[in-house]
Amino acid sequence: MTTQVKDDMKLTPPHGGTLINGYAVEDQTQALREEASGLPSVVINARQLSDAHMIAQGAFSPLQGFMGHEDYSAVVKDMHLANGQPWPIPVTLAVDSHQAAELKEGKRIALSMGDGEVVGVLSLQGKFRRDREEEALAVYRTTEEQHPGVANLYQDGDVILGGKVTLFPGLPALEDGILPHYRTPSQTREAISQLGWYTVVGFQTRNPVHRAHEYIQKCALEAVDGLLLHPLVGETKSDDIPASVRMRCYQVLLENYYPQDRVLLSVYPAFMRYAGPREAIFHALVRKNYGCTHFIVGRDHAGVGNYYGPYDAQHIFKEFQPGALGITPLFFENSFFCRQCHGMATEKTCPHGADHRVSLSGTQVREMLAKGEMPPEEFTRPEVAKVLMES
Ligand code: ADX
Repeated sequence: MTTQVKDDMKLTPPHGGTLINGYAVEDQTQALREEASGLPSVVINARQLSDAHMIAQGAFSPLQGFMGHEDYSAVVKDMHLANGQPWPIPVTLAVDSHQAAELKEGKRIALSMGDGEVVGVLSLQGKFRRDREEEALAVYRTTEEQHPGVANLYQDGDVILGGKVTLFPGLPALEDGILPHYRTPSQTREAISQLGWYTVVGFQTRNPVHRAHEYIQKCALEAVDGLLLHPLVGETKSDDIPASVRMRCYQVLLENYYPQDRVLLSVYPAFMRYAGPREAIFHALVRKNYGCTHFIVGRDHAGVGNYYGPYDAQHIFKEFQPGALGITPLFFENSFFCRQCHGMATEKTCPHGADHRVSLSGTQVREMLAKGEMPPEEFTRPEVAKVLMES
């Protein structure tokens, strides 16, 4: 039974005004399958399938498909779609040139996986060659292949196929234990309505939750009605902690330290781009589609290595007119536990020097866990450390 959304609730509108649904409706599915079996097909990879699901479920609204030339060029050049709406990251289906040569513009193409499974259909509106290095420099601020997002970009072909996507009903790939936390944007919006929240802050993370995360989430919660804890559970680089382990960390933290009626734990099944500043804007816009009014951007959001300055992902928001994004960023400085304050703090609130701070890098934490040592309580809650040790 569908639950009735409270009449008086007004959720924040999605980006572009309408939540897209790109899944074939039930009575069209059979006809679409028959059509797809007679179409030329393109084999897509796991990241492209993930993007197709994000488009189809409306998380990437207003996108209705993979970007064509005009949107792509405008996005790469100045972080807007061709119609002027803000959008910082290309969402593309790129193939190699001999594959593209066989495909005709204006025709429909079946999208299939390596094992032959057909997942949907693309109406090919246009195809064009891209300059991968130019895209890398604009989006990732580097052309180095060591950057994991750039490495992914270089792995894909250099001809982009643009067009509307229709997928057969299905789910994005999810690790074990994640499914109970899966909600589409419209299901998330419905849950927010049921909770009666007017203001909702979204929190993106690809890491196990530590005290700094908890601190900035709770600072934000002081100002809004609810928190959408929205870990990214799509593909990450191989040394990031698997999503299924992270989910258990989030759960024990919420059970022990958060008021149950003020947090919604749900997942964001996109892959990580590691595009730092541009990805911060992207993460914010997408969370607006899930119903968030606010979005947390802390230190080195979506960063990797030393490619971005610690606050570049905050500075980039100034490149948009106030109000243009339709979601309010909440910025936080580097947070740490200070032994003198005996609590979490930032440079904005703590007068003591670096010697009093408990700070650990991800590598240090991994080394401690590998040796069977518990990370200090000031860094990670013991309940979370236990989950990490066990895994
Ligand atoms: S991210 O790639 O998803 O951004 P991570 O899970 O580490 O990585 O961070 C989630 C969010 O918390 C981001 O907004 C990030 O900027 C913020 N953050 C992480 N650690 C800190 C910290 N020590 N102080 C302030 N903000 C932080």
